[in-house]
Amino acid sequence: MTPKAIVRVGTLRTVDALRAHLKNLGLRIPCDEELLTGAQSPLRAPLISGPFKIGNRIAVQPMEGWDGTPDGAPSENTFRRWRRFGRSGGKLVWGGEAVAVCHDGRANPNQLLASPINKAKLGELREVLIQEHVQTTGSDDGLLIGLQLTHSGRYCRPNEHGRPEPRILYHHPLLDRRLNLPSDYPLLTDGEIGSIIEDFHRSALMAWQLGFDFVDIKHCHGYLGHEFLSAHTRPGRYGGSFENRTKFLREVVEGIRSIAGGLQIGVRLSAIDTVPFRSDPNHEGGKSSPGVAEMYTNLLPYSWGFGVNPQDPRDSDLSEPTRFLSLLEELGIQLVNITAGSPYYNPHLQRPALYPPSDGYLPPEDPLCGVARQMEATRELKRRFPQLLIVGSAYTYLQDFLPHVAQAALREEWVDFVGLGRMVLSYPEILWHASEGSGIERKRICRTFSDCTTGPRNGLPSGCYPLDDYYKDSAWAAKLIEVKQR
Ligand SMILES: Cc1cc2nc3c(=O)[nH]c(=O)nc-3n(C[C@H](O)[C@H](O)[C@H](O)COP(=O)(O)O)c2cc1C
Ligand code: SF4
Repeated sequence: MTPKAIVRVGTLRTVDALRAHLKNLGLRIPCDEELLTGAQSPLRAPLISGPFKIGNRIAVQPMEGWDGTPDGAPSENTFRRWRRFGRSGGKLVWGGEAVAVCHDGRANPNQLLASPINKAKLGELREVLIQEHVQTTGSDDGLLIGLQLTHSGRYCRPNEHGRPEPRILYHHPLLDRRLNLPSDYPLLTDGEIGSIIEDFHRSALMAWQLGFDFVDIKHCHGYLGHEFLSAHTRPGRYGGSFENRTKFLREVVEGIRSIAGGLQIGVRLSAIDTVPFRSDPNHEGGKSSPGVAEMYTNLLPYSWGFGVNPQDPRDSDLSEPTRFLSLLEELGIQLVNITAGSPYYNPHLQRPALYPPSDGYLPPEDPLCGVARQMEATRELKRRFPQLLIVGSAYTYLQDFLPHVAQAALREEWVDFVGLGRMVLSYPEILWHASEGSGIERKRICRTFSDCTTGPRNGLPSGCYPLDDYYKDSAWAAKLIEVKQR
């Protein structure tokens, strides 16, 4: 589909118009007409459950900036972003951003790194966030802050932006090709996995000592934790059966519990997926070609996915994700953040957008379908696991209607927390303003231009280039224009 063929959400002036549009598309997304404020607003309702007392239902999703120092310490840009996370008023800060547990596991040479030399600076990130949060909300009561721990697995680029150094668990017939991996490219050994698990333990202990309330053991977006879940074809202790594919999680959790007993644990999970997409090779438009599924019909039953139907892997299947959430319950993990797919191989599923990033493809569907898909999967999982505290993702494409949908989704108990991803880069306070009744600043609403993804794909820091003056007027913006004109 071309962006022109898609009805722009910003042109729909009323909730009724959105509802009519959703009906035309055959989608069910709840949307409230009137925004409630103050204590009446579902967005402002505290949530008390088990050891958690979280002051409202606004969550800040992890949003990486590709802007740490080569050593993996935060830069001034990183501090600025974390201050803005605090300014959102959200009482649940899900991990801040992906922080690598070891140098080789970094997704880019500027990713933050949980190493002893960076310890104090990582702690300062938390402190500046709290200071700013108190400015917005008046207090840090009920504020829960996590640190997202990651190893980038297949998507490691620790040393040079343009040099992938994949660390893979198994050979994937479609994804190996994208990275030109030969059939004898080495797999991570069980011994190497053991040492990565220890890196998670060490990093979690550091997070606990720094005062973070929880760590997220990242299991999403095609990175290592997520790849374990689809390691059906891997031999040995970490592959094959569901038990083996979740051993990594269990060993990470066990170690953390033994050394940092008071630290809570969360998991961000790509609960649904589809096959890898790419721009249509039969179309001449390059990134202006619509996305199509890679050929998979010769690969059935499909054994390289998690949360997909093996007979038709374009479709999701919640059976294993349901088993995974049962396992989280057994492990005493209550904090769960539901997301989908991967920004590398099916970005339309993961972050629905009108405009593709520079290495992407035009939306194969109305992006509202992507929003509805994640919301529906999250709703179903919440229904099956009422005791879990569940954060929902991919609300940004709703734009002007984000507050209306967020309020309705909370009111109808589709989800416990509404997570802000891209919107937190352009307009962090949107839900705080909506639930305060102070009016929405339309000109700050993210329109999903994808520059915050195009930037990093081309070695530049991420940020909201079109709407945030800090980036709009920077030297990086000039470079980004150059890149986009190529
Ligand atoms: C620039 C950028 C950086 C991101 N960084 C992370 C990250 O570090 N960890 C993570 O789990 N997700 C990351 N995401 C995914 C978001 O958290 C979120 O799931 C996605 O953007 C969809 O939500 P949205 O529609 O609110 O943007 C990132 C997304 C973008 C656009
Ligand atoms: S660059 Fe700004 S407007 Fe574009 S998708 Fe990112 S946050 Fe939204």
